[in-house]
Order: sequence, then C-alpha cells, then structure tokens
Amino acid sequence: MPVPAVNLRPALAATHAAYEARLAELFTRQQFILGEQVRAFEQEFAAAMGASDSVGVGNGTDAIALCLRAAGVGGSNKDVITSALTAPFTGVGITAAGCRPRFADVDPRTLRMSAGDAQNRARKNTAAVVPVHLYGQPCDLPAFRRVAKTLRAELIQDACQAHGASYQGKPLTAYSSLVAYSFYPTKNLGCLGDGGAITTGSKRLARKLRELRDGGRRGGQVSFTFGINSRLDEMQACYLRAFLEKLAEWNADRAATARFYDESLRACPGVQLVERTSDSVCHLYVIRAKRRDRLRAFLSSKGIGTGVHYPVPLHLQPAFSACGQKRGDLPHAEKAAREIVSLPLWPYLPRISAEEVVTRVWEFYRA
Ligand SMILES: Cc1ncc(COP(=O)(O)O)c(C=O)c1O
Repeated sequence: MPVPAVNLRPALAATHAAYEARLAELFTRQQFILGEQVRAFEQEFAAAMGASDSVGVGNGTDAIALCLRAAGVGGSNKDVITSALTAPFTGVGITAAGCRPRFADVDPRTLRMSAGDAQNRARKNTAAVVPVHLYGQPCDLPAFRRVAKTLRAELIQDACQAHGASYQGKPLTAYSSLVAYSFYPTKNLGCLGDGGAITTGSKRLARKLRELRDGGRRGGQVSFTFGINSRLDEMQACYLRAFLEKLAEWNADRAATARFYDESLRACPGVQLVERTSDSVCHLYVIRAKRRDRLRAFLSSKGIGTGVHYPVPLHLQPAFSACGQKRGDLPHAEKAAREIVSLPLWPYLPRISAEEVVTRVWEFYRA
C-alpha cells in the first residue's frame, strides 16, 4: 500500500467550501495586494497564536530577516546564533538581514537547539539568538531568554515549523517580541505557494514590520526607510483563513499519529525515538535509524515516502562556509544528520497507512 510522505488532498477536500467562499469575496473586491483577506487573516492568526498582532509577509525566510531588521540588528554584520540542524532558510534569512550566522549544537535527545551550547559559542559581537522550534517542538524558551539577556542580544524565534505551539501554557510571544512563521505548503498551517508571517506583542514592532515589508511605505507612495517587497498575497490569505479554522484539529490528528508511531516503534531494534514534549505540534515525525539510507530505500521500494530533515548541518553547507565552523565542531548535529529520517505524517493520515509504515520498518530491522 503506497503511503506518501505528505498528502495535502484530504486537507484540501475538508476546506474546499471555506476557501472557495473567500476566493469569491476576493474576486468580487479585486484588491489583490494588501486587501481585506490579508487584514482579516492577520487578525485571526494573531488571535489563534495568542499574540496581539501579526504581519503577513512573502515567506518564512523574509519573516526571519524582517524580524532581525525590525529589532535593529539588520545590516550590522554581527553574529546571530542559530541551530546547525534546521532548514538552510534559517541561515539564509540571517544572511539576508546583513548578519552572520553562527551555529550552535543540538540536544541529542530532542534535536532542539541547546541554549547552553548557544551561550558557549557566543562571541562579543552577538546581536541576536534565533532558536528553531524544530519538528514543531518549542525550544526551552526561558533558558533562551536568560542567554539573550546575558549576551544583551535580541531573541527571535524561528517558529516556521510550529504553528499553534505554545510553551508551558503561554503563547510564544510571551517569551520574545518577534516570532517568525512560514506557510510553505507542507507546514502545519501552509498556503498553496509561498507565504509567511510574524507575530508580535508590540504595536511599535508591528508598525515597523508593516513598513519594512512594503518597500518602506506607510500606505502611500513615499518610502520612509529601505524596506523590501515581501507581502503576503490576498489569494494565499484566502486559503490560510480556511486552513486556520482547522489548525487545532489537524495538530491533534498529527499528535495522535505521532503517539501511534511512538508506541509501535519504541521497541523496534535499529530505531531510536526522538524525545518530544507535550508542547510539540508534531510538524514532522522523526526517528534515528540504523542504516538510515538502506531503510529509506527499502521503504521506498514498498511505496512509502520518507524525508530527511536535514541531511547536511548548516555549518557544513557551502553557502555558510565563510562562517568559519568546520566538520567536528557540532558533533550532535552532525551525527543526527546521518541518522534521522522523517516518516509519513499529515492530517487525516489513515491509521491503516501508519500501520503499514510501522510494519515495514519492523520488517526491515527483523531481516
Ligand atoms: C525551520 C525553518 N525556518 C525557515 C524556513 C523558511 O521558510 P520559507 O520556505 O517560507 O521561506 C523553513 C521552511 O522551509 C523552516 O522549516
């Protein structure tokens, strides 16, 4: 039985009527940039994330770059510490803001960025710390707050994989004033193209971000500051408003599948589970697997799709070689990158499909 790594069809079917209604409104009004859909989505998304404001932007990479610029560290060429185990776009966002990524190692049990390691790697010129809520699991935010305070650095969260997550009962904006999201289509809340947003608890920062994303303009044709053109578009806002209504249900569904995988694979020889807290919104289900690449090839031969998030830690990627960190510097991230594999996880994944995945993983290791 084929089981794709990701399948958006059931989620699209469940929201079809809702997004068609929004699109009909948009086609009637015909304001395709920064109109009523984006305005409404920004309010709805802020409310759902427990923030006072959200600002829609073109993608998650720009969201990270704009956070750094709004925080006043853009163009400084100073260090911004982030995880070595993340999408390259975390590093790209930091570079795009005119800062230098400096990579910290992960906790080998959870694969989340380690606050202690971030502190140890800090140099005098550290301007910001960007913890990444990898696989949907928020980092230890009180610890990161302490690190940022000690370093007198800004704290900006990369929540591009953590839509709907809170930390110990509090919204993410309770821990730092800027939180970046991506709406890449496969995210817990994705759109049907590129999109992103920043949530904030600060009216001042929300105003600044609105200016920066729209060429430095304040609603007219005068540019007050060097902004960029990175606006969430109206059509994506139509989809996002429809999908947002389902986010809590979809996150619960992902969590139920993740628990099923935990229970079914915990005792499997060759498999090591990645620890998760109850705060995780289970964006990806990742295990550490012996003979990882052979397992993936075997699953693929049975029609089961998998992914690797991520195969090359950022300090070993050519684009970031100038950052000066080399092989051996971040041992936990390097080891994890050789062992991790993401199993199929998406809303409405039938239990029978998850059972098939588990059966095949056991079959591989029994043999
Ligand atoms: C952790 C993380 N950070 C940043 C990004 C960048 O988001 P986008 O692809 O929307 O630019 C992504 C998504 O790819 C991500 O997973």
